[in-house]
Amino acid sequence: MNLQNKVAVVTGGGSGLGRAASQALVDGGATVVIIDMNAKAGAKAVEELGANKAQFIQLDVSSGPDVEAAFDSITEDLGRVDICVNCAGIGIAAKTIDREGQPHNLDHYRKVIEVNLIGTFNISRCAAAAMARNEPDEKAEKGVIINTASIAAFDGQMGQVAYSATKGGIVGMTLPMARDLASQGIRVNTIAPGVMATPLMMSMPQPVQDGIVSNIPFPKRLGEPSEFGQLVTHIVENSYLNGETIRLDGGVRMQPR
Ligand SMILES: NC(=O)c1ccc[n+]([C@@H]2O[C@H](COP(=O)([O-])OP(=O)(O)OC[C@H]3O[C@@H](n4cnc5c(N)ncnc54)[C@H](O)[C@@H]3O)[C@@H](O)[C@H]2O)c1
Repeated sequence: MNLQNKVAVVTGGGSGLGRAASQALVDGGATVVIIDMNAKAGAKAVEELGANKAQFIQLDVSSGPDVEAAFDSITEDLGRVDICVNCAGIGIAAKTIDREGQPHNLDHYRKVIEVNLIGTFNISRCAAAAMARNEPDEKAEKGVIINTASIAAFDGQMGQVAYSATKGGIVGMTLPMARDLASQGIRVNTIAPGVMATPLMMSMPQPVQDGIVSNIPFPKRLGEPSEFGQLVTHIVENSYLNGETIRLDGGVRMQPR
């Protein structure tokens, strides 16, 4: 799918990987609607991207009614949704039982599932419904959905039991969703990033960053958010990519801790 004059919805677009994806999509000629909980970050992103190329909607991706209403208003305002990139996500660090032998807090576990897994599905289902109403383009495509998992879906570390479950769930739903939407000409793919140089990671002490980098085969550095953006636009443009999860990680395989 060509990016020119397309409408893209990017969740978590106020920060990190979602912000980088928004930039790449706008640079390619798309109009971006950023969905994020953080109003300040959303407004800043729109200012930087250009108010004629970006809009912001503040909402929680896990709210069914809010997301349905947002897609109604986007299709009313902009006429269509062609591209959807799910980047909104949260992480927690807690083991199955803690040092005192207490079980993992179940509400914390539920919260991560709610935002990362249900939030991704909630946005995707509404994006797919909007895309299904598009006229197919010259390649018979009506839309492209891109999810963000993590290498923690495959090599989750100690303390990532909740986070890994959400990311494994996103990987697991990629193929069936692509199959569900195939007859509509909508493709679904997932990116599983390794350790990326987002603000959170860059705020970690240098020795921690160095320790992470030492395990990365090549290139020996953190991934750049712009490299995530580059993969997003490639997935949109390459019509033969479908139903797949792509690791973007410099070849790293995470150790247990
Ligand atoms: N940064 C990494 O190294 C890395 C690695 C693997 C996977 N990921 C995944 O990539 C995605 C983006 O990560 P990031 O590092 O850019 O994070 P980030 O914290 O910089 O950005 C996430 C954005 O999502 C928004 N958000 C959080 N919960 C939300 C909700 N319920 N509704 C709407 N918006 C919400 C936040 O406000 C924030 O702007 C996440 O899903 C994360 O799990 C990141």
